Formats: sequence, C-alpha cells, structure tokens
Amino acid sequence: MRGGWVESGPLDDESRIDRAAAGRVVLRLSRMLRPQRRAIMRAVFLLIIQTAALLASPLVVRYAVDAGLVGKSGRAINIAAVMYLVLAVASALLGRSVIWAVSRIGEDFLRSLRARVFRHLINLDLGFFEREKTGRLVARMTSDIDALQELVSQGLVMFVQNALIFVGTLVVMSLLSWQLTLCTIVVVPPVIFASLWFRKRSNTAYLEVRDRVGTNLSTLQEGLEGVRVVQAFGREGGFIERFEATNEAQYDANIATVKIATRYFPFVEFIGVVGLAVVVGAGSYFADRNILEVGTVLAFVLYLNNLFEPIQQLSQLYNTVQSAAAALNKLFGLLDTPNSVPEKPGAIDLPEVGVLKVSGVTFAYGGGPPDTDGVSHPRGPTVLSDVSITVAAGERVALVGPTGAGKSTLAKLMARFYDPIDGDVSFGGVSLRDATRKSLRERIAVVPQEGFLFAGTVRDNIRVGSP
Ligand SMILES: Nc1ncnc2c1ncn2[C@@H]1O[C@H](COP(=O)(O)OP(=O)(O)OP(=O)(O)O)[C@@H](O)[C@H]1O
Ligand SMILES: [Mg+2]
Repeated sequence: MRGGWVESGPLDDESRIDRAAAGRVVLRLSRMLRPQRRAIMRAVFLLIIQTAALLASPLVVRYAVDAGLVGKSGRAINIAAVMYLVLAVASALLGRSVIWAVSRIGEDFLRSLRARVFRHLINLDLGFFEREKTGRLVARMTSDIDALQELVSQGLVMFVQNALIFVGTLVVMSLLSWQLTLCTIVVVPPVIFASLWFRKRSNTAYLEVRDRVGTNLSTLQEGLEGVRVVQAFGREGGFIERFEATNEAQYDANIATVKIATRYFPFVEFIGVVGLAVVVGAGSYFADRNILEVGTVLAFVLYLNNLFEPIQQLSQLYNTVQSAAAALNKLFGLLDTPNSVPEKPGAIDLPEVGVLKVSGVTFAYGGGPPDTDGVSHPRGPTVLSDVSITVAAGERVALVGPTGAGKSTLAKLMARFYDPIDGDVSFGGVSLRDATRKSLRERIAVVPQEGFLFAGTVRDNIRVGSP
C-alpha cells in the first residue's frame, strides 16, 4: 500500500520539536500504548509478512527466467505464474489487514487521548482557565489532535512499511549477490541527499507561500471591506497597486516552489535511470562470467524501485511525523499541568454541618505558572487583605459593597476555587485544604453571578448540581 505522493503541510517553528523532547514523547507514548501491546505486535507481524510477500515477487520472476526461460522448463513457468498470482492476492489481503490493524490502534489511542485531556482539563483549577484562553484550549484539542490523526490515518502504515521495504530489499539483494548489491547501492546516497535537500528547501518555500497567501488575502479583504471609504476618497488606484504587489509576491513564492521541484524530481528520475544502467551493465558483466544468473539481474532491476520509493516517501513523511510529535508534546504538556487546588493525599470529608470560618485571608489573582505558550501571568494587586468572617450553621449573611470590592472573590475562596495566599478557610473546624473534593462540593455550593446555560432543557439546567 505504498500509494502516491504524501502531501504534508509545511513545518513551522511551532510544530518542530528537538531530539530530547522527541525522545521523551516516544518513551511516554510507548508507555501509554502498553495495553495495546498485543494488537501492535499483531500489526507488526502482518506488516512484516506483507513486506515479505512484496519482496518475494522479484524472486519468483527470477525463478521464471532462470528455471523457465533459460532452463527451458514450461512447468517452472507455470509454477512461477501461479506463485506470482498467489503473492499478489496475499499482499492485497494482507495490505487490508495491515491498514485495518494499524488504524484501529491509532484511533483507539486518539479516543483515549481526547478523553484523558478533557478529563484533566475539566478538573483543573480556575486559575488555569484564567491563564489559558478557551479558544487556545479548543485549538489544542482540534489542531493538535488533527496532526496526530493525520499521522494515524495515513502516515503511520506508510512510514513503517517503507522503512521495512528499504531494509528488506537491501537484505534480499545482498543475499542474492553481494557484488551486484555493491554496484547498485552507489545510487542510494545521491537520492538520500537530494531528498533531504528537497525536504528542507520545499519546507521553507511552502512556509513562504503560506505567509504570502495570507498577506494577499488580507489585502483583498481589507480593500473589499473598506470599499465605501476606498471609493469615497478615490483610492481605488492605490489599492489596486497594493494588491498587485502582494499578488506578485504570492506568484514569486509559488514559482520558487516549482523551481525546487523541477530540480528534484528530474534528478531523482535521472538517478533511477543511472541505477538501471548500472544494474544492467554490471549485471551482464557478472552474468557473462557466470557469477550470476540472468534472472538475478532482472530481480535487481525490479528491486531498484524498492530502494528509491521509500527514500522519497520517508522524506515526505518526515513533516507529518514531526508535526505529530510536536502536537503530542503539547498535549502531554497539558496533561502535566498540575492542579493548584489539589486534593491532599489522605484528605478527609467535611462534617455535615459546621461553622464556615474565614480567618485572616489575603488574596490576589494571577501569579501561577506560565501558560502553555510560555507567557507568564504575574500576580495582580491584592484584592482581599486580612479578611475574617464567621458564618454559623443556619445563619444568613449578606455581603454588601461597591463593585470590585471582592465579594465574589470571597465567595470563590469559601468554595475553594482558589487557595488564599495567606490565612485559611475552614468548615466545621476542617481546613478546606484538607477536605476531599467530593465533600467540599456537597457542603459548599456557589451560584455564580453570571449564569451559564448548558445545552439541554431548562429542567436539566436546574438539576445540574444533582442530575
Ligand atoms: N479572574 C480575575 N482575574 C483577575 N482579577 C480579577 C478576577 N476576578 C476579579 N478580579 C478583580 O478582583 C477585584 C474584586 O473582584 P470581585 O469580582 O470579587 O468583586 P465584586 O465585589 O464581586 O464586584 P461586583 O459587585 O461587581 O460583583 C476586582 O478588582 C476585579 O477586577
Ligand atoms: Mg461579584
């Protein structure tokens, strides 16, 4: 199933990841995939068999030529034809199973990753959600998971398979004839270098294209949105000029990518022809001296493609793999965000009833760790300073004060949405910091100032606390 050309988007700095981080990601990934060990082993096994079937076909051709054509045996040709057919059908069937097996593993993993991230996020402290914009968190869940999805749904099988084919081909070739193998692999380094060059240059070029398309679009949008002003002041000419400039820049960027492609593809094609010439030339030389059979030379011709395609495809897949690793790294970062109002180990349940006591509490917003983009959020001004208040069981207290006095903040501290910087809040003599989360939410409820309606009926919304 080595199909077609893999189009992966260009790699920007955001989706790059260094070697050390990549190592950590892989390690953690393998730990997360441990429960799927059996399925993975099965998939790898299928992949190996499928690759073996693929690598066997040229051997059948070799047999047909040597035993059938050269040895003049009709029976050998018939056997070879049947074997070839069997191998073709087997590879097709195995290919199906491989895609099926790998996709199942990948999709299972993504499903549990999405669940884990959401479970983690929804339990995090409010301070976290003040640092992180909801939009960015949603982006994490969509674009980062998409990057992984891309790898899982198309890249992964091809990546492993191409690597297997490349290595397998080299092994089979050297078993057939190490002399001819040595002659053949001289064409490999140029293809590797050319592919590395192409990946690097085309990546830069495609980033540039993306940039310039963006600029061009914003010129277009601005001109059209502001068309009343533009026409009122007779500025059409100026805008046309501006658009021509950005349009030209987009053209240049596209042409630059074409230039890179026109150097790479014909070069690889040329090396392919050189490789063919080498195999046929050296092969006939060896065959002439009875070092090799003709069939072996033909098998080498067929194997040549197995050396070229994987290099090209692997270099293309590099971007997909890199983006996926970077995305996984960011998602792991989210999963590692600690809760700043955690439940203590050995936390106890709050008593059923008791006195709610706020003693000497001081509080300021902010001051947590940097957000996921690395932007730090310094501690803001002090909102509450040495506040004490006691509410007895059954007592009703109203706090009255000007806007911004800190009433809502005090309520949030009483419910332990935040921990105070100084002082303590306790219920029935137990500090909220020592309480279990469950008992805390059961004893102390907050009705926020800003209502929020969840999807569903009015009834569902009223019963949100005890569904
Ligand atoms: N999430 C937040 N991040 C940073 N500062 C905040 C946050 N919420 C409130 N503040 C600040 O803390 C102070 C107290 O706000 P708070 O909401 O507790 O006031 P309030 O007494 O409830 O006011 P209102 O009567 O308008 O509801 C204000 O200066 C406000 O700007
Ligand atoms: Mg308020």
